Amino acid sequence: MARLSIYSDTDPSVAELSSADPALVTAHLALAGVLFERWQDPRAIPDAADAQAVLEAYAAPVAALREARGFQSADVVRMPRGLPDAAARRASFLAEHTHDEDEARFFVQGGGAFYLHMDEKVFRIVCGPGDLLSIPARTRHWFDMGPDPEFTAIRFFTRPDGWVATFTGDVIADRFPKFEPETGPLP
Ligand SMILES: [Fe+2]
Repeated sequence: MARLSIYSDTDPSVAELSSADPALVTAHLALAGVLFERWQDPRAIPDAADAQAVLEAYAAPVAALREARGFQSADVVRMPRGLPDAAARRASFLAEHTHDEDEARFFVQGGGAFYLHMDEKVFRIVCGPGDLLSIPARTRHWFDMGPDPEFTAIRFFTRPDGWVATFTGDVIADRFPKFEPETGPLP
């Protein structure tokens, strides 16, 4: 379940709004031109399911999004916990950047935080299982997968060479709260 927090881009110390209400999250992001959806879990997907099984499980919403937004292809990316290069992978998405195409992600399992820098605001969206977020082309943004990354996500592409980032050189990401996955109570 996503949580949206909206900050002034000059004050990361306090969120002007913070909500995990799906209707509010969807509405606030829609006002900013950002697509957010909750996709129902079609059935239990085994942890070991391969990419094809994941895409088949979500075949209907994946096809609908591709049709609506003109995505040419979709794949599945997995970030299993404990990868030796996790810190480097985290760092590679932590600087503000843009793309010439929409960046859409659906989280099957696990999660992370997207930060969208728009109109002197920063929209921080902590995404979890069942959350679909599509960042419009040329929106300044960054992504934090956290100190112990773990997620399975469906990615959508509009062109064969896929993900191409243009870094803005702004160090704004360093000032905003990082992603710390919620941990349950100690046993
Ligand atoms: Fe990106």
